[in-house]
Amino acid sequence: MNKSLTKILPWMPEKNHWSEQVGINKRIQIKGTSNQLFISSGGIIKNLQIIIHGHNNKLVIGKNSLVSGFIEMFGNDNEITIGQNTGMLGVGLTAHEGKYIKIGDKCLIARGTDIRTTDSHPIWDQEGKRINPDANIEIGDRVWIAPDTKILKGTIIGNDVVIGTRSLLNKSTIPSNTLAAGSPAKIVRENITWSP
Ligand SMILES: CC(C)(COP(=O)(O)OP(=O)(O)OC[C@H]1O[C@@H](n2cnc3c(N)ncnc32)[C@H](O)[C@@H]1OP(=O)(O)O)[C@@H](O)C(=O)NCCC(=O)NCCS
Repeated sequence: MNKSLTKILPWMPEKNHWSEQVGINKRIQIKGTSNQLFISSGGIIKNLQIIIHGHNNKLVIGKNSLVSGFIEMFGNDNEITIGQNTGMLGVGLTAHEGKYIKIGDKCLIARGTDIRTTDSHPIWDQEGKRINPDANIEIGDRVWIAPDTKILKGTIIGNDVVIGTRSLLNKSTIPSNTLAAGSPAKIVRENITWSP
């Protein structure tokens, strides 16, 4: 292995570790076994970093979807699924400890948005019980998330939803055909739809 490749693939000598520099600002690093990455036809990854450390994790990018930003799965059995015809530009997706993030079809998720099933750092009460467990995230079809929004663990968003810029959703349930905004996000309009 030449020197620059050793820099990119420092874990190469270890078994079952794989990494590839697929171009400028595109990097995939997978450490572990039985991890799967599916990019459907017409799916584009651009300026995207994917880091998977663990086993049996799965990333699915649907037909004609464009994904840029950062994807991280740590631990085992995590799953991130992005539907068809969805655009995500400069978005962070983080799933740890066997959780999933499901994003539907025809969504538009704008730059600076962070979607995470985990706080990344556990918090314990005095009895030693974890008070901030990880939780799954579901985002329906035709959801527009405006820039710089935080979608935290346990959030469920229906179909045909708009989330205002710089909103914070924490264990939130946002029904279909609503506009939610603010920190924490509240429903500010009902019976709406939007077009890209
Ligand atoms: C969500 C959004 C589209 C709503 O626009 P709108 O339909 O014209 O809504 P309004 O301005 O009438 O706001 C409705 C209510 O939500 C509140 N609101 C809207 N966006 C908000 C936000 N990001 N955070 C907090 N409150 C917000 C308004 O203050 C208003 O509250 P009120 O009814 O108490 O007065 C717009 O506010 C927004 O966030 N646009 C993102 C623009 C952008 O960055 N585009 C880049 C392309 S992705």
